[in-house]
Amino acid sequence: MKKEFIPFENRIWLSSPTMHGQELVFVKEAYDTNWMSTMGTNINEIEKKICEYVGCKYAVALGTGTSALHMAVKLAGVKPGEKVFCSDLTFAATVNPVKYEGGEPVFIDSEYETWNMDPVALEQAFELYPDVRVVVMAHLYGTPAKMDELTSVCQKHGAVIIEDAAESLGATYKTQSGPKESGCSAATLGQETGTFGKYNAISFNGNKIITGSSGGMFLTDDREAADRVRKWSTQSRENAPWYQHEEIGYNYRMSNVVAGIIRGQLLYLDEHIARKKEVYERYREGFQDLPVSMNPYDEKCSEPNFWLSCLLIDEEAMCRQIRDEHEALYISEAGKSCPTEILEMLARYNAEGRPIWKPMHMQPIYRMNGFVTREGDGRAVINTGKSGTVMGHDGKPLDVGNDIFNRGLCLPSDVKMTEEQQDTVIEMVRSCFE
Ligand SMILES: Cc1ncc(COP(=O)(O)O)c(C=O)c1O
Repeated sequence: MKKEFIPFENRIWLSSPTMHGQELVFVKEAYDTNWMSTMGTNINEIEKKICEYVGCKYAVALGTGTSALHMAVKLAGVKPGEKVFCSDLTFAATVNPVKYEGGEPVFIDSEYETWNMDPVALEQAFELYPDVRVVVMAHLYGTPAKMDELTSVCQKHGAVIIEDAAESLGATYKTQSGPKESGCSAATLGQETGTFGKYNAISFNGNKIITGSSGGMFLTDDREAADRVRKWSTQSRENAPWYQHEEIGYNYRMSNVVAGIIRGQLLYLDEHIARKKEVYERYREGFQDLPVSMNPYDEKCSEPNFWLSCLLIDEEAMCRQIRDEHEALYISEAGKSCPTEILEMLARYNAEGRPIWKPMHMQPIYRMNGFVTREGDGRAVINTGKSGTVMGHDGKPLDVGNDIFNRGLCLPSDVKMTEEQQDTVIEMVRSCFE
C-alpha cells in the first residue's frame, strides 16, 4: 500500500514567480514618469545590467525569449529548406523559430551526462549533412551543455552557434572556484551560458529563474547584429520623417513596464540561484538510497543555475508505463515506480511536477524531420517518419532523449517552497517506491 499524505494547503509549484517588492518601485517609476512604452530607463538599465552579469557586449530587450531566438535565426540567414541542427530534448521554442524562417530542424540526440546535445552525435550529423551552417543548442533545466566539445565540433565545420540560454541564466561553464579548476581549460573558466554562441537568447517568462511576467533578451558581441535586432524588433523603421520600410519588421520590443519588473528581479538573481541549488541538494540527499538519480551536470567544470530539479528512475526500478500521444497508463508495483505514478501522487496532494520535456523528434509536428543519435557502436542513425521510440535489438529505446523522457520527471522546484514542504515531497516520492 502506498502511503497517504495531507494535501498542501497552498499549491507547491514547479517554478512560479517570486517577487520581492523592489520590482514595484521600478514599475511605479515607469508609470510616474510616463515611460509606459517600449522605451525608458528600465529597458536601458536591464540591457546594461545583463551585459555586465553575463559578460556580453550587447543586449536587446525583447518581448519573449522566443522572439530573441527568432531574431538569432534570421541573423544567421537561415533560408527556406535549409537544414539546421537543433537540440532534441528541449522546449519547442528552441526549434520553432527555425521553422518561422522556413528552415528544417534536424534533431541531435542528448548525452546522459548533462542531458544536452551530444557532441558525438553532432559530429556524426555533420558527416551526414556536411552543408549545415547553423546549430541551435539549449541548456536544459539550467544545466550547461558540453560547450567545449560542441564548440569545437561547430568550429571544425564552420557552423554558427545559436545558444538558447532561456532556462540557464546565471549558469556557468568551467567555473573557477576550488577543485572545479582541475581539468578545465583556462580559456573558458567561469563563462556564463548565453555567451558561447554568436547569437544568444535568454527568457524572463513567468516560470524562469527571474521573470518580468514575460520577456526575453537577445545577447551578442556583434554590434551590427544587435543594431539589426533593435531595428527589426521595432517594425524596421528607416531613418526618415515618415514610416519608411525597406525590410520586414516585427513588434518584438520589450515594454518598459515589464523591464521594471526584471530590473527589480535582477537584484535577486543570485539569491534565486542559491535557493534553487539548496532545493536540488536537498532532493539529492533525500533520495540517496532510492533507485533514482538527479539531473546530472559536470560537477568539475560547470555550475548550473539549478532552475529545475529532476529525477531519473533506474531502469530496474521502473514499473510498467505506456504513453500514447495524450495519456499515460502504468501498473503499480511494489518496490518500483514510474514518472506517471509519482506525478499523480504529487498532483493528488497539491504539488506540481511535470514530465520531462517530450523530445522534439517524438513530437507530431516534427516527426518527419531528421534525427541523429549515436548507437552503441558510435554509428549515427537517422529517424525519419517514426512517431516514437526507436528500439534497439534488446528492446530498449535507442535514443537517449526518449529514454530520459520515459524514466524522468521534473520535481517541484519553487524558490518559495519551504524545507518542510520539500521534505513532504521527498516522502511522497519515497513512498512510491515502497
Ligand atoms: C529552452 C527554452 N527556449 C525558449 C523558451 C522561450 O522563452 P519565452 O517563453 O520567453 O518565449 C523557453 C521557455 O519558455 C525555454 O524553456
